[in-house]
Amino acid sequence: MKHAELFLEALDRRARLFAPSARATFEANRELCSWLLNPLARWAEATYGETAIDDAARGYAKYCFGVAQAQQIYEGAGRYTPESMPEIMSGVYKDEDYAVPYMWAAILIYAFWPSMVNHIKMFRDEFLRQLPRNATVLELAAGHGVLSLLAAEERRDIQIEGVDISPPAVAIANRLLAVSGHGDRVKFAIQDALKTNEPASERQYQGIISAMLAEHLPDPKPLFMAITQRLSPEGLVFFSTAIESAQRDHVFEYNQESQPLRMAEAAGLRVSRLVSDASTVPPGSRFLPRATAMILRRR
Ligand SMILES: C[S@@+](CC[C@H](N)C(=O)[O-])C[C@H]1O[C@@H](n2cnc3c(N)ncnc32)[C@H](O)[C@@H]1O
Repeated sequence: MKHAELFLEALDRRARLFAPSARATFEANRELCSWLLNPLARWAEATYGETAIDDAARGYAKYCFGVAQAQQIYEGAGRYTPESMPEIMSGVYKDEDYAVPYMWAAILIYAFWPSMVNHIKMFRDEFLRQLPRNATVLELAAGHGVLSLLAAEERRDIQIEGVDISPPAVAIANRLLAVSGHGDRVKFAIQDALKTNEPASERQYQGIISAMLAEHLPDPKPLFMAITQRLSPEGLVFFSTAIESAQRDHVFEYNQESQPLRMAEAAGLRVSRLVSDASTVPPGSRFLPRATAMILRRR
C-alpha cells in the first residue's frame, strides 16, 4: 500500500465522520497530497512506530470536532471569544496532551481540507521551487516542523531554521527531523516568533514561511514588520492565515482577505499571488471560514 493511503485507512477507523470528505480532497489532488503524506507517513512510523498513523487520525478527529464546536460558539457570539494568552500558553502550546494530537491535525488538514489543499500547492510550486539556489529559509511557528522538512526534501540545496513557541511541538519537529535524513540542513528551536530584538534576528533570509500563525497573535502587525526586517531584498515569503475561522487558540479575527494583505503592504511587502478557499458551512451561517495564502516580496 502507498504510504499516503495508510492515513486514509486510519481515518476510516479513527475519524469515520470526517473520512469521506478527507478522501474526496485527497482523490481530487492525489499527486499533491501524496507529495506531503508519503514522506510524512515514513517519518511518523520511523519515529513513533506502527501506532503513529492511527494516533494522527485520532488527533485529526479531535481537532475537527473542536473546530466545529468553536465555529458554533462563534456563530452564536458574533465574534471570537478566545481564552487569555496565558491560558492558551498553558492549556494549548505547553500542554503535551493537547499539543501532540493538535500538531498531527495541523499538518493533515493540508491534505484533507478543501480550504487548505491549495496552500500546499502554492507552498511547493510558487515558494519552494522559486527560491534562489542555496537559499536560507526561516520558518516562524513551524509547529510539527513538517513544512520545513518537506522544504528540505524538495530542495536539497537549501538550509532551514524553524522556530515555535510550543515545547511539545518543537519536540515532535526534532524527532521527525532525526529520522528524515535532513539533520545537517534543518534546525528547530523553541522561540517566540516576535522576539526580534535578539542578535540572531538581524540575519536575513531568502525565504520566510509564516503559515497559520497570524491568527494566533493578539496583534499580527508586528509579525509583518518582523518578516520584512528578516527578508533579504530578493527574498520570497509564504504567508497564510485563517479568516472567520474560530478555534480555541485563534485570537485575532480577520473578516476580509484585504485585512492581512493591507498589514503586509503597510510593512513594506507586496503580494504576487493570493489564494483563499472556504470551508463548507450550514445554510444561513453568518460567517464563512476561509484559509488564505499569499506569496509576498519586498516592495
Ligand atoms: C496552527 S499551528 C501552525 C503550525 C504550522 N505552521 C502549520 O502551518 O501547520 C500554530 C502554531 O503557532 C505556534 N505559535 C503561536 N504563537 C506563537 C508565537 N508567538 N511564536 C512562535 N510560535 C507561535 C503554536 O505553537 C503552533 O505550533
